[in-house]
Order: sequence, then structure tokens, then C-alpha cells
Amino acid sequence: MNDTRRIILAVTGATGMLYVEPLLNLLAAEGVAVHGVISDSGRQVLRLELGRKPEDLPHVERWFACDDFTAPMASGSSLYAAMIILPCTTGTLGAIAAGYSGNLIHRAADVSLKERRPLLLAVRETPLNRTHLTNMLRLHEAGAIIIPPMPSFYQNPKTLDEMARNFAGRICDQIGIHAAGMKRWGG
Ligand SMILES: Cc1cc2nc3c(=O)[nH]c(=O)nc-3n(C[C@H](O)[C@H](O)[C@H](O)COP(=O)(O)O)c2cc1C
Repeated sequence: MNDTRRIILAVTGATGMLYVEPLLNLLAAEGVAVHGVISDSGRQVLRLELGRKPEDLPHVERWFACDDFTAPMASGSSLYAAMIILPCTTGTLGAIAAGYSGNLIHRAADVSLKERRPLLLAVRETPLNRTHLTNMLRLHEAGAIIIPPMPSFYQNPKTLDEMARNFAGRICDQIGIHAAGMKRWGG
């Protein structure tokens, strides 16, 4: 991660909205500012799963509309340390893998790759078809980090929130932010 303490969080319309708030809390605790962008489907799934609007989520400095190509994150000249797509649909995965900048999320991801900044995709689907797997490999080879929301159970999480926090901590680790209080194996 470069020394800019600001990242992009993109939320797309896959299931797994419970991971978003724990991630925002960990980032805020580490002094990382967040610019947010959410797809139309992301809004719908956020409402369906949590009964919330993006504006209800904590610690997002500013939300940008998904069709706002004038947003700072649409240009490589704006500095961000990293971009996280959580959760990430296979549709968004496919668009980014194809270099198709159809909305601000795709464009910001394309910019992250060309600027060689960390791009994390928490791709959520099961089972995976050949196209999903090929797109993931293509983006891995382009420098992205594919980090599906696969919870671990060896730390015996007692609540869904604890499980989500553990996964959010794994995301933070990938961008060089080692959240205080993270349970670590052998630690
Ligand atoms: C409740 C709900 C859950 C969904 N879960 C997933 C999912 O886990 N993975 C996925 O790829 N698409 C999922 N979808 C479908 C996407 O929302 C849909 O393909 C959408 O067009 C993706 O657009 P986006 O990538 O711009 O958000 C879900 C849709 C709904 C309504």
C-alpha cells in the first residue's frame, strides 16, 4: 500500500452485505478514510439483507454515484492506496476481467490495475462455472487479489459478526493494515 490513507470501497449486488460494516469499522480504527461506490444491485441487496441504505453505513467519507465518471476514483491522478470490492458479483468480475468500464466500479478497478495499486475482489458465487474461474485467473494474472468471502471456523467464532470481523481482518492484512485485536493462529 502506498502512503495515502484513503481507499475505495465498492459494494456490488452479491450476497454478503454483513461483511461491509465490520470492514469499515476496522479501517476507521486504523485511520483509513473510505470513498464508497455501490451498484444499483448492491443497493437492492443491502436493503434486502440488512434493511439499510449505503448512507446508513458508518465511516464512509463520501459515496459516489455508480454512473459518476467525474468522481476522483475514475482517474489515475487521484491517489488511493487500494480498492476493495466487497462483496463482488460475477458480473462485476467479468466486466473488470474484460476491461469493460461500464460503470464507475469497473472504471475505478481498471484504473487500480493500470496504476498497479492493490485491487481486491471478494467474489461471491457458488458453484463456480468455467467463465467465473477463467475471469478470476485472468485478474489474478493482471495483479488483482481474489479474496472470496470464505469464513474460517478454527477460531470458533460465536456470532456472525465475529465471523465477518475475522474475514474483514484478512482483507485488511492484504492491504498492509494489520488490525488491532485480530485473532491470529498461534498468536
Ligand atoms: C438477493 C440477491 C443475491 C444475489 N447474490 C449474488 C451473488 O452472490 N453473486 C452474484 O454474482 N450475483 C448475485 N446476485 C445477482 C446480482 O445482483 C446481479 O447479477 C446484478 O446484475 C449484478 O450487478 P452488479 O455487479 O453491478 O452489482 C444476487 C441478487 C440478489 C437479488
